[in-house]
Amino acid sequence: MLAHVLAVVATPTMSLVPLPESVVAKTGNFRLGATTAIVAAPGAAQAVAYQLREYLAPTTGLPLPVLGRASGKHIRLRIDKRTGKGPEGYRLVVSEDGVEIRATAAAGLFYGVQTLRQLFPAETFRAGFPTRTDWSIPAVEIADTPRFGWRGMHLDVGRHFMPKEFVLKFIDLLAMHKFNVFHWHLTEDQGWRIEIKKYPLLTEVGSIRKETMLGHYGNQKWDGKPHGGFYTQDDIREVVAYAQARHINVVPEIEMPGHAQAAIAAYPELGNLDKKLEVGTTWGVIENVFNVEDSTISFLQDVLTEVMDLFPSKFIHIGGDECPKTQWKASPKVQEKMKKLGLKDEHEMQSWFIRQMDTFLANKGRRLIGWDEILEGGLAPGAAVMSWRGEAGGIAAARSGHDVVMAPTDTTYFDYYQSRDTAKEPLAIGGFVPLKTVYDYEPIPDELTAAEAKHVLGAQGQLWTEYIPNGKQVEYMAFPRACALAEVLWSPKAPRDYPAFLARLSPHLARLKSADVNFRPLDK
Ligand code: ACM
Repeated sequence: MLAHVLAVVATPTMSLVPLPESVVAKTGNFRLGATTAIVAAPGAAQAVAYQLREYLAPTTGLPLPVLGRASGKHIRLRIDKRTGKGPEGYRLVVSEDGVEIRATAAAGLFYGVQTLRQLFPAETFRAGFPTRTDWSIPAVEIADTPRFGWRGMHLDVGRHFMPKEFVLKFIDLLAMHKFNVFHWHLTEDQGWRIEIKKYPLLTEVGSIRKETMLGHYGNQKWDGKPHGGFYTQDDIREVVAYAQARHINVVPEIEMPGHAQAAIAAYPELGNLDKKLEVGTTWGVIENVFNVEDSTISFLQDVLTEVMDLFPSKFIHIGGDECPKTQWKASPKVQEKMKKLGLKDEHEMQSWFIRQMDTFLANKGRRLIGWDEILEGGLAPGAAVMSWRGEAGGIAAARSGHDVVMAPTDTTYFDYYQSRDTAKEPLAIGGFVPLKTVYDYEPIPDELTAAEAKHVLGAQGQLWTEYIPNGKQVEYMAFPRACALAEVLWSPKAPRDYPAFLARLSPHLARLKSADVNFRPLDK
């Protein structure tokens, strides 16, 4: 294995990120030319062939026609059930005589294509016209398959709305790094971002706040400028289809029972107070949470019905984090309901609330996932847990037979600072998650037995956007930390070699530069 890694490091054009399972450098080159075709049988392989063409034809200026069959030196994509690398794995062979990618399924071919792209000069990641004529790549044999099935990145569009065009670019960047989950955090105290036909005020009222905090929370200053935006259902369908074509599952998050102020501003009957609220303008954990009336449960199930129509994802995220119990404690109606249901405290009330959603989603063939607070007061039977307050919640859930996605603050919160020299960084929420910490992260806790560890589906990086006002800033916070996380999630557990990663990362950053990504430069 070490020899393969050294071969990769020694050949700058083969600085592959994430590192494949096995890379064997061979002698010679394959050169793309005016007569090179992409050969694939009609069906799944041909769909991926057209994607490869779209990646390479404009930037090389070569025609690269997609053909059903051809003789000679070409790029061939083949679905081959005997590839033996699992549905997302592939084998890629580059020789003087051509390129062949084999996989058991389209996803594997797609990942083989992502690796093949990285064999070409970085400028092939540029949109626009070719700047050279020699498009040769080194001969190599690669066999590859991912370590984890949940390779995720999260994006909060509630605190700051991100235009659809940026979301599509973000998905392209995820695909380039072989991520397969985009966790789209769509509702927040400070903004509801998804059109719901049955309840139009959610976006008419809930998608616009009158102003935004200026500088850090501690300053208690506001900018006086309205901020808003939402995705129509057509936008959502477009994003989901775009992601699907790139083998990325979009997991939508609709927050409940906390982080609900924008929804309550739109429909006051969902709240606990007899007063009209405005869409949130202050960051943090807010006490205005949903009430527990049957009508509120039905309202949210109606929302989830539309969400399920839009998102084919098996997992539907219902939030569940940071729900203060102050208003529930003070509310005679909530207290009466707790008594009627025989619940001993507000944590059990929250657990009851989540169970209503768990049963509802399960009856529709979906699965609930929520932040680790959903463990409090008892976990709903089919629920999966996203462990963010460290790994304790994930460990407890895995031990009780529930699936887990690791998302701990101290290694995967990409809204945290990347440097201790915070004065030189753009304003961030706080914390410190440098690149090396991400690279060294091991998603399977030592405490788990092999059987329990199977419940750890994978991990994901979080981009909360209180202090991330636009797409360029998302890119700065996400990259290159997402490159390190991609490797944690895709590459074999061993070898873990940070200097070798950095040696591959520098040429990889040239790809990101070509793709117009505003990544944070490496420390000198
Ligand atoms: C979270 O960061 N509140 C999940």
